[in-house]
Amino acid sequence: MTPPAPPLAGVIGWPIGHSLSPRLHGHWLRRYGIDAHYVPLGLEPAELEAGLLALPRLGFRGVNVTIPHKETVLTLAASVSERAARIGAANTLSFTPQGFHADNTDGYGFAENLRQAAPGWQAARGPALVLGAGGAARAIAATLLTEGAPEVRIANRTFERAQALCAHFTPAPVVALAWTETEEALHEAAMLVNTTSLGMTGQPPLDISLETAASDTLVCDIVYRPLETPLLAAARARALPAVDGLGMLLHQAAPGFEAWFGRRPQVDDALRAAVLGA
Ligand code: ATR
Repeated sequence: MTPPAPPLAGVIGWPIGHSLSPRLHGHWLRRYGIDAHYVPLGLEPAELEAGLLALPRLGFRGVNVTIPHKETVLTLAASVSERAARIGAANTLSFTPQGFHADNTDGYGFAENLRQAAPGWQAARGPALVLGAGGAARAIAATLLTEGAPEVRIANRTFERAQALCAHFTPAPVVALAWTETEEALHEAAMLVNTTSLGMTGQPPLDISLETAASDTLVCDIVYRPLETPLLAAARARALPAVDGLGMLLHQAAPGFEAWFGRRPQVDDALRAAVLGA
């Protein structure tokens, strides 16, 4: 009898070339001496359903999901976690004999990162101001509500998208603001979270003044290329607590790794260094 092949996991998306997940999971597999592999899998939308049927037969225990499949996978799942249903998207799939279970760990990663990087952080402290209304904003808004934020304010360039996001959470306290109201709203915000692509390498910086922010307003960016975005540099210049976007990426990966390979991995400086070496 041939010995069983090492278990597999991976990340599906289209295109997939820039994903840091293989480096991240590869670091954990080596660190814990686990004989398994984590690979990038370019899967076109038209191949999604067939691919998800084939992967468990090829030895995959599960996959992470990235653009453009995060919403579509929910329609194909055998079961969906409560948080994935609430967000309306999944990023972590585990294959089961019945099909696959779909979960969303983006918001979990966001909150875990804040617990580690800003100890004492509490969503309940005051309203949160979230910039952007895409998938990341939706996951973060859901998490902030779960964590007890009294209100989540969404400012987005396209106001209708901010309104749609709020409608998704009705009757929870999520409100839409015009993009031009951002600086005024900052005055009352206990935290500011940038979920737009502004500040990313190759994109314009996020052009907002932090002058109106209170001295303890927590400033978070989910952009991690570069690690120190112009927004975070401005926050540090004003001595505001600031948290970069890499930690969210690292923490969101941990539940999948544990589900597929049976070990809860550590998010620490060694992992950060391994991923930043990319
Ligand atoms: P994700 O799923 O990662 O959140 P997304 O759905 O593409 O990504 O959302 C990107 C966000 O960045 C959106 O809120 C987008 O604003 P629009 O809804 O108006 O498109 C925001 N964004 C991108 N470029 C921007 C720019 N130049 N100025 C302001 N906001 C911008």
